[in-house]
Amino acid sequence: MQILDGNLTSRTIKNEIAQKVQEWQSKGIRKPHLAAVLVGENGASMTYVGAKVKACEEVGFDSTLIQRPASCTEDELLAIVHDLNANPDIDGYIIQLPLPAHISDKRVLEAVDPSKDVDGFHPENIGRMALNLPCFLPATPAGIVTLLERYGIETSGKHCVVLGRSHIVGMPMTLLMQRNAQPGNCTVTVVHSKSKNIDAICREADIIIAAIGQPEFVKADMVKQGAVVVDVGITRVADASKKSGFRLCGDVAFDEVAPKCSFITPVPGGVGPMTIVSLLMNTLLAAENRSVSK
Ligand code: GUN
Repeated sequence: MQILDGNLTSRTIKNEIAQKVQEWQSKGIRKPHLAAVLVGENGASMTYVGAKVKACEEVGFDSTLIQRPASCTEDELLAIVHDLNANPDIDGYIIQLPLPAHISDKRVLEAVDPSKDVDGFHPENIGRMALNLPCFLPATPAGIVTLLERYGIETSGKHCVVLGRSHIVGMPMTLLMQRNAQPGNCTVTVVHSKSKNIDAICREADIIIAAIGQPEFVKADMVKQGAVVVDVGITRVADASKKSGFRLCGDVAFDEVAPKCSFITPVPGGVGPMTIVSLLMNTLLAAENRSVSK
């Protein structure tokens, strides 16, 4: 069994990005600039946005954090989106999800300029991804594909079972694994809350990608010997032994599943750091597109 080390891989890719930024600067091209919009005081969102801003610093990007209280209205947020779309200094930006319940994330995400949509959540980018056209890929699925690629994992002709059909992970993951690309070319099965015989379907999988947010849902008896298992879960579970009072728990019962796997991602240190690195790669691409179109 080999660990798919997201920390190590993301460090390697961050170094590659930092080098590119330095090359640009030596040619007088300005640094990529990412903005992040955070509405409300959701603890997990605050942590993730903080990590994204820190990652920008690490690779030499400029970053701007725009914070608003949970009382922010949809119109106020839409005004921020329109300002970011019009701001030539911003190459790309993200609206951290979830948004407070009184704001329609669909309406807000549709207002994002697709050329600055480095989260890849705009319908135009999702449609382009489905058609295998150049676009911004959603960060988490793109990070998983990069991890599989960097570890040289063969996916062509393999049966990939994706657990979950969220718009952020499960749905785009399904599209990426079945498309005619490398990694890709899988036979993909999606299972979700209404699926039957989930255990038996998982047992048929060469690759399992678990993204349902249910701690330790995938048990050893659901996994075929030699399978590749990717765990996207990051549920906060109470843990009095931790200073924070919680620990992050994946969707896979790691201790019992790992011995059966050829490759497996840990939680934390697997998919999470790869998500951030994908956002950086998308921002680099946005800046590149912008400098070419000038
Ligand atoms: N919330 C959970 N994952 C993500 C993500 O990848 N991007 C944004 N903007 N919000 C999220």
